[in-house]
Amino acid sequence: MPRPRAYITRRIPHAALEIVAAACDYTLWDSDDQPVPRAVLLREAAQADGVLTMLSDKLDGEFAAAAPRCQVVANMAVGYDNADVPALTAHGVLLTNTPGVLTDTTADLAWALLMAAARRIVEGHKLIEAGGWKSWSPLFMVGQEISGATLGIVGAGRIGSAVARRARGFDMRVLYHNRHRAPALEAEIGAEYHSFDDLLRAADFVVVLVPLTAETRGMVGAREFALMKPTAVFVNAARGPIVQEQALVAALKHGQIAAAGLDVFEHEPIGADHPLLGLPNVVAVPHIGSATLATRTRMATAAAHNLVAALTGQPVPNPVNPEVLGHGD
Ligand code: NAP
Ligand code: GLV
Ligand code: GLV
Repeated sequence: MPRPRAYITRRIPHAALEIVAAACDYTLWDSDDQPVPRAVLLREAAQADGVLTMLSDKLDGEFAAAAPRCQVVANMAVGYDNADVPALTAHGVLLTNTPGVLTDTTADLAWALLMAAARRIVEGHKLIEAGGWKSWSPLFMVGQEISGATLGIVGAGRIGSAVARRARGFDMRVLYHNRHRAPALEAEIGAEYHSFDDLLRAADFVVVLVPLTAETRGMVGAREFALMKPTAVFVNAARGPIVQEQALVAALKHGQIAAAGLDVFEHEPIGADHPLLGLPNVVAVPHIGSATLATRTRMATAAAHNLVAALTGQPVPNPVNPEVLGHGD
């Protein structure tokens, strides 16, 4: 039996390469800072039995059609909105993701954004750098109170629940909104289920952690910002297109909400001229929710295990479209 051929669309931690190398011949797009060009991805996928991909790779019908041998796409992310799942399924391509291994790391970053935006950390740093600190003063740089406040989590799944656990240490009241109630989270944290609108009205902090789907695209817009408190702090650590960015800019400019902490954007990477960056009440970071070496290594090894399992007929740990399995070609 010839060894399966794999293509890897970015430089990944060595531990993950070793897992792939043990079972496959592979080539990779060996870059840290540049995503694989589309033409290269399609050309390489045409030769591959499996592809290990990043969230920046578009995995659509064109990709699937260009990759007739491809049995599996192992996305190195928990989110897979970069993939057209029905198109992959129609071509018999298994999609896998990396749930769980990045949960706490991403919750930590969401919490850091919440605290930084509430307490004006980046604004204060910039003010000192610009020579603007004149004296201690009772109302200088006052921000939003975190301890004892009300946290509203939109999308209390793995990561949202981990954010809720952090809120316990701050004596916060925790509200959440999902499509379905989460009894385990209610029992563990005392989290209260609310409709989307009631959560937006009641929360001092709104943290978005839903996946990007047809249903969640644009779900936070002008109407939703108008429902929030003028003192509310908004955090998006999920996916940019869940939020209507122009409406967010307007809400922050006109004092409809107090501040925002953002890890994700409608079009990534954003440039230095992006309208959100001109606002003093925005803390923005470049999609680094899962960015610790330990977690990125766990994500890469999880993706490698998924890839190899699918290519060697072993049970696949994290299938997104398991209906593809067991149907042969
Ligand atoms: P998860 O466990 O699947 O949680 C998603 C939650 O969203 C579930 O509780 C789900 O509950 C809820 N939900 C889904 N659709 C909804 C809708 N239309 N309305 C309201 N709630 C909805 O996923 P996770 O592991 O926590 O990851 C969540 C997302 O975070 C990922 O999809 C990814 O996009 C993003 N993420 C970002 C980073 C980063 O670097 N910033 C890192 C990791 C993940 P119901 O099914 O009951 O609705
Ligand atoms: C990162 O954004 C992920 O979805 O894993
Ligand atoms: C502030 O620094 C205080 O001591 O209250």
